[in-house]
Amino acid sequence: MPLPASTQGALASAPRGVPAEVSRRRTFAVISHPDAGKSTITEALALHARKIAEAGAVHGKAGRKSTVSDWMEMEQARGISVSSTALQFEYRAAGSDIDHVINLVDTPGHSDFSEDTYRVLTAVDAAVMLIDAAKGLEPQTLKLFQVCRHRGIPVITVINKWDRPGRAPLELLDEIDERIGLTPTPLFLPVGIAGDFRGLLRRGPDGEATEYLHFSRTAGGATIAGEETLSTEAAEAREGEAWTTAVEESELLAATGQVHDQELFLAGQTSPVIYASAMLNFGVRQLLETLVAFAPAPGPRTDITGTPRQTTDPFSAVVFKVQAGMDTAHRDRLAFMRIVSGEFERGMVVTHAQTGRPFATKYALTVFGRERATIDTAYPGDVVGLVNATALAPGHTLYLDKKVEFPPIPSFAPEHFAALRAQSAGKYKQFRKAIDQLDSEGVVQVLRNDVRGEASPVLAAVGPMQFEVVTARMQAEFNVETQLDFLGYSLARRTDAASAAELDRQRGVEVFTRSDGVLLALFSDKWRLQYIQKEMPKLTLEPLVAATD
Ligand code: G4P
Repeated sequence: MPLPASTQGALASAPRGVPAEVSRRRTFAVISHPDAGKSTITEALALHARKIAEAGAVHGKAGRKSTVSDWMEMEQARGISVSSTALQFEYRAAGSDIDHVINLVDTPGHSDFSEDTYRVLTAVDAAVMLIDAAKGLEPQTLKLFQVCRHRGIPVITVINKWDRPGRAPLELLDEIDERIGLTPTPLFLPVGIAGDFRGLLRRGPDGEATEYLHFSRTAGGATIAGEETLSTEAAEAREGEAWTTAVEESELLAATGQVHDQELFLAGQTSPVIYASAMLNFGVRQLLETLVAFAPAPGPRTDITGTPRQTTDPFSAVVFKVQAGMDTAHRDRLAFMRIVSGEFERGMVVTHAQTGRPFATKYALTVFGRERATIDTAYPGDVVGLVNATALAPGHTLYLDKKVEFPPIPSFAPEHFAALRAQSAGKYKQFRKAIDQLDSEGVVQVLRNDVRGEASPVLAAVGPMQFEVVTARMQAEFNVETQLDFLGYSLARRTDAASAAELDRQRGVEVFTRSDGVLLALFSDKWRLQYIQKEMPKLTLEPLVAATD
């Protein structure tokens, strides 16, 4: 089912000027381990924005109806979403007369890691950490959280699936505190244990119970859950022990200072927590309210000279993702930019900072899955897809008026390495072209050395899924069958020309030049690296940026 026009592209409201548009925007991503409920909560959020008649229509996995996010065959086959897209909708909080604009930037949903995931997090102002109530913190959530911490992105925590048996509410909070050093400060506590989710206790500024939101189920959770607001007295009369337990828990948390503090939240030290059931739509409205009330609106971004670019400055944007072959019928190449400052108007001619050349923005789109719509105006925080943006790569800047350039997106430390070659020597030309294309999109890092030659470059990736994307696209878009030979290296260090010759003589070490000119030494394992560092302390061996730094 196609999305109604109102969910895509231009929002209905009249223009109000950049400051007002900025203040009503919230741009965030959901970070979670696969199966925690990211697709379900995306649907539920859009449902609450009253833009879509029925949950299940926006963003599902293969097999669900109208899975608009699954455009690549590989994605469909595996029920994953490799690419990132953005969903934009308006939300008016209860008692407010402002229509907020919510930009939900999708992170790839597969269990492997790729650089795309990191890059998406450079485009958001906040993250929602979605945790399964029965499983607690899982490996991918932890990794993604580390990226948020690294980038100073404030995190709102949603403990999902409270309708199913799970762990005790405070135990889950302790785990967050102990394992990642983030102090959880619930805004709402569940009334009823996991598996018996009756509603939410709203906590006041000092952790006191202020009201009770009682939920009632709707068939299959396909429409917004019924919600009734009760006083604390009425709550006790109705829920008895389930209510008094929640009150006690709230007091215990207040005694240790676990109440919301906006400054500490923005500083990444605390995280507001909401208990929810994405499936039943319980707690979803509360998440939207929290985003609107506490998540930061788009703010200034520092350029390469260290000067903050204010949102009210002339138009500027950062490309955070490039995707080719989204539409096999068109063979196009889309660059997704996050607007940093000013107003974007489709058709305006901007400058590409890296080449100094003009860039026409005649074809500007919002993209969510298979659905595309032309976008005419956009503001800081918004994500816009530019069609046929051949010169653009992740990290590039576009601007209007005086030159501005934002720092490059760091390329993360690869941990997987494989040599790639065309199965047929006759395809060498296409093979070269394809490698250059995929390299410039940032699909993988490409490493070369004289010994292996041009016919067999080495691909370096953060997650092995990146290799699959390369081989699938080589075949589908360039008609080149390739073979991957996994190499026995597991870590990389930056080195220099003076150290390279010595390193190349060592067993279990190989030196390469990455396509951006950086010299990388690959090591079979950390013991080999440690041994060499000990034996030859003068060699240059610098760690690369890792998500967990
Ligand atoms: P993901 O995108 O994070 O990978 O997770 P997804 O939303 O696909 O959810 C994974 C599974 O968890 C789905 O079940 C989904 O229905 C279920 N789920 C999500 N949120 C909740 C919740 O709040 N409560 C309960 N009880 N289940 C939830 P599935 O059986 O794998 O798929 P489906 O057949 O239900 O679609």
